[in-house]
Amino acid sequence: MEVEVTVEEVTPQVTYPLRRAVLRPDGGEVAWAGDEDPTTFHLAARTGERVVGVVRFSPAPCPWRPRTNAPWQLRGMATDPAVRGSGAGRALVVDGLARVAARGGDLVWCDARGTAAAFYERMGFTVVTEAYDKPGIGPHIGMLIALSST
Ligand SMILES: CC(C)(COP(=O)(O)OP(=O)(O)OC[C@H]1O[C@@H](n2cnc3c(N)ncnc32)[C@H](O)[C@@H]1OP(=O)(O)O)[C@@H](O)C(=O)NCCC(=O)NCCS
Repeated sequence: MEVEVTVEEVTPQVTYPLRRAVLRPDGGEVAWAGDEDPTTFHLAARTGERVVGVVRFSPAPCPWRPRTNAPWQLRGMATDPAVRGSGAGRALVVDGLARVAARGGDLVWCDARGTAAAFYERMGFTVVTEAYDKPGIGPHIGMLIALSST
């Protein structure tokens, strides 16, 4: 079932509770290098006042497309398990890609968790690597999407 979500830019601190609950349940650090960089932006999806999804976008060289002009990295994507499958993740990615394009970005890449790869494929990303392990987190795969400059 679709839920009504609004997406807006937020401070990094707004994203930390969901990062902690969903991405670092074993207690890993949730404040990451680059969170406070002025070019980084963070998005929260809300239903009413409740934050149900978060994501971060920041300019960063693409490990697999080194000659891209203006690559950005997607990180810290997480939605509340209670709303999964109802469009919050999609709303965050669609909004984020539009904001990256508006800032002149021409590609977005991510280290996708193996379990989330099919989600990113639904969002238009393509797998560009073999699977690799991120110690303490598990299997990942490189994915990216080219953005049109229109
Ligand atoms: C991956 C994640 C962000 C998806 O969020 P979500 O709110 O469930 O996403 P949506 O409801 O917007 O799903 C959008 C589409 O992707 C599909 N989808 C979502 N998660 C999927 C998955 N794991 N596998 C396959 N399809 C998936 C949905 O069915 C939906 O399909 P549709 O196009 O037919 O509507 C969420 O499951 C999550 O937080 N997972 C745990 C943390 C994680 O792995 N984060 C990514 C780290 S790289």
